[in-house]
Amino acid sequence: MQNKISQKYINKKFWRKKTVLITGVNGFIGGNLVKLLISLGANVIGISNDRKKDRFLKYEGLLNKIKYYKADISNYNQIKKIVSENNISICFHLAAQVDVNIAKNEPFHTFESNIRGTYNLLEVLRTSKKIKSIIVASSDKAYGEYELNKLPYEETYDLRPRFPYDVSKACADLITKSYSTSLFNLPVITTRFSNIYGPGQLNFTALIPDCMLANFGYRKFIPRGNGRNKRDFLYVEDVCDLYLCLGYYLYNDNKLSGEIFNAGTGRGFRVDEIVNDICMLDNNKDLYCSIKKSYVGKKLTGEIQHQFMSYVKLNKMFGWKPHTEIKEGLRSTYKWYNGFLKKYNYKDFL
Ligand SMILES: NC(=O)c1ccc[n+]([C@@H]2O[C@H](COP(=O)([O-])OP(=O)(O)OC[C@H]3O[C@@H](n4cnc5c(N)ncnc54)[C@H](O)[C@@H]3O)[C@@H](O)[C@H]2O)c1
Repeated sequence: MQNKISQKYINKKFWRKKTVLITGVNGFIGGNLVKLLISLGANVIGISNDRKKDRFLKYEGLLNKIKYYKADISNYNQIKKIVSENNISICFHLAAQVDVNIAKNEPFHTFESNIRGTYNLLEVLRTSKKIKSIIVASSDKAYGEYELNKLPYEETYDLRPRFPYDVSKACADLITKSYSTSLFNLPVITTRFSNIYGPGQLNFTALIPDCMLANFGYRKFIPRGNGRNKRDFLYVEDVCDLYLCLGYYLYNDNKLSGEIFNAGTGRGFRVDEIVNDICMLDNNKDLYCSIKKSYVGKKLTGEIQHQFMSYVKLNKMFGWKPHTEIKEGLRSTYKWYNGFLKKYNYKDFL
């Protein structure tokens, strides 16, 4: 959604013909970012190691509009070749193994992608002459657990993660910080965003897509906790707006290098509140009641209990704030899944 503040950084004058690298290009956020950048005339170079996930780009008619490399960011030589072949001036580093359950069971693969992948990329970009703006996706999970009365999380909080995915993001986050110092002077900003939802999210173990599937009757929803855990949810359009905001400002002012930005809505939503909102999209009271019963005796393990994020720093520095109310975002998301799941089988994404 365009407004006076976003007109400054979401415009064709700036983005047209800029060569932008997106790692994790066929992922949820990568795909949505491609959509926005292509509409602004940017040349998008994309990297992903898993072309099975291309269906979002295909469905949105974006696949043939980007220069696409199948490559693994944990392979230094592959990344070096891609960067040397393209005059990249802006990079959004989104590629990561994001499935918390996979991270719990196979930490090695998660560490390879999320940690080695990040220093490979930054090391290669360090030797690139043209790069002016790099935005690295860390995560709210990098902070680890804080008491509910300390929330929302602010950028000044220490990173104290414990679980594998959270640790992998914190490592990438700290590595990024070291590349921004005067030793290397790489123009890089780190983002620590809350949970994100919206069209294109094909990781069906995440709460909202998982519950959408149950609501459409595709499978049973099995809650991981008792429904009382609090989470924050940003709509993907707001996130893409914010990525462009950061990419633009860092490009024009390298003094922003090393900055870290949290984003969320600033409030926590109880999991059962979100589940209720999704069930009510179809007035599906029976489903809500059966999920409610299954919360009993469940305890969230290997995950942070409560998390929500402040966006005060972003608002002070750039006037940025999230625009999409949760109910409105869930309605658009529902409509999108309704169309997408008629064409594709969700099982292809498991
Ligand atoms: N989705 C969220 O709720 C959320 C919240 C906070 C932060 N983040 C961060 O944002 C980024 C993007 O998340 P997403 O939801 O779009 O995830 P996603 O799983 O939809 O996309 C990740 C992409 O990275 C690619 N990838 C994974 N490992 C790779 C490797 N070794 N080499 C090359 N490509 C690889 C995958 O193929 C996929 O295209 C991640 O870094 C994630 O940690 C996401």
